Order: sequence, then structure tokens, then C-alpha cells
Amino acid sequence: MTRAVSPHPLRLAPSILAADHACLVDGLQKVEALPIEWLHLDIMDGHFVPNLSFGPQTVAALRERNRDLLFDTHLMLANPHEHVEAFAKAGANLISIHVEPDYPVAETLQRIRAYGCRTGLVLNPATPAAAATPFLEAVDLILVMTVWPGFGGQSFLPETLGTMSELHKAREETGLSFRLEVDGGIDLATASECRRHGADTFVAGTAFFKAPHPQAFFQAIQEPEAD
Ligand code: DX5
Ligand code: ZN
Repeated sequence: MTRAVSPHPLRLAPSILAADHACLVDGLQKVEALPIEWLHLDIMDGHFVPNLSFGPQTVAALRERNRDLLFDTHLMLANPHEHVEAFAKAGANLISIHVEPDYPVAETLQRIRAYGCRTGLVLNPATPAAAATPFLEAVDLILVMTVWPGFGGQSFLPETLGTMSELHKAREETGLSFRLEVDGGIDLATASECRRHGADTFVAGTAFFKAPHPQAFFQAIQEPEAD
């Protein structure tokens, strides 16, 4: 297949979910030690996904410690529209909401923008790319889940590559410039595969926080050798 080329510079977004939650500042410092611009924050409600993580209070505390990182906030919530204000006020820069639950998606995207944040729309592994079509002009980023959300440390699902290709094609055909992010089971091999399918933004929890050489991992993601 032809290699898909994103219009955006590649970005790594380490997921703080994989850091030690008794010492989140240590995790933050591991990110700050490198020229990383994005931090991924996984918010889980125990309803839309079968797990709980943390809320706006933790996001605000991290924001107190770091004013510069782009806080890429992934809301895995059944009712994200009810929490936009809290996360925006806590310091989120980008708020991504899932397309699957039953709530007013378009209105929620507008609300995110009204709070001065960038907008993201998230698709679960089985959700077709077409589910994003009505919202393409309203988003700055589309996140394709490459595992079922809820837990770190799962294996990448290759069947999600087709969704990435379709969204990349839609981006080219419409001339829109949303980023294409991938999340779940991302390591150097799966990141490279996703990049060939148009992805430009790579969430990595386990692979970043457990990497023996985080700098080498960061460079390989953001400045990969030519394919
Ligand atoms: C899963 C989360 C991911 C998770 C990724 O529900 O959305 O961001 O932290 O973890 P790894 O990189 O370990 O698969
Ligand atoms: Zn996530």
C-alpha cells in the first residue's frame, strides 16, 4: 500500500496512567526531562469503561506543577458533556470525547471550544470511521482507540488500521487538518505501522514509562528513520 503522510509533525503523548500514582510528580518529571510537548490524561468513570482512574482535581494538581505541556485529556465517560467545564478549568488544553455514548456530541464539541480548548473525538476499535463524518469540521483531532479502553498494558488491535486509513483519506479529501491520534498498545513497531496509515500523534503509557531508554523511545517516535 502507499504510505499515508500526515500534514502534521509527529507527536508523542505519554499517558500518565502508566506512571506510579503514589508519585505522579515523578512521572511528570520523566516527561519533563525530554522535549515532549503533550501529556495524555486518561479519565475513566466505571460506566462507559469498566475502570476508574482520576478526575479534575488530579489534572489541576498536575497543571500547578507544569504550565507548558499540552494536556491531552481523554474522557472515557458516559456523560462527558457534564464534565467539560471541570476539566477545562482544571487546565486541559484538548478534550477528547467518545462518539459511542448517547449524549449531544456536536453540542459538547461546541462547549469544549467555548472553553478555549481544542476538540477531539474518539472511536472505539469496533466503531466505523463513518461515525466521525458528521463531526469532521468540528474537531482538531480524531483518536482511534487501538485497544478497548479501560486499561493500560493491552495488546494493539491491528484491525483498527483500516479505520485510520479511512480517516486519513477523509482528511485528504476534505482538506481538513485534524490530527490523527492512536492510543493503546503503542510501541515502536505498532507506532510505525500506524504512521504508515496516517497517524501522527501517539499515546504511549507502558512503552514510555517502562522504557529502559525513554529518550531513545521518544526520538524513535517523533523522528523516525525514513520507511
Ligand atoms: C486505555 C487508555 C490508554 C492507556 C494506554 O483506556 O486510553 O491511554 O493508558 O496504555 P498503554 O500504552 O499501556 O496501552
Ligand atoms: Zn487514552
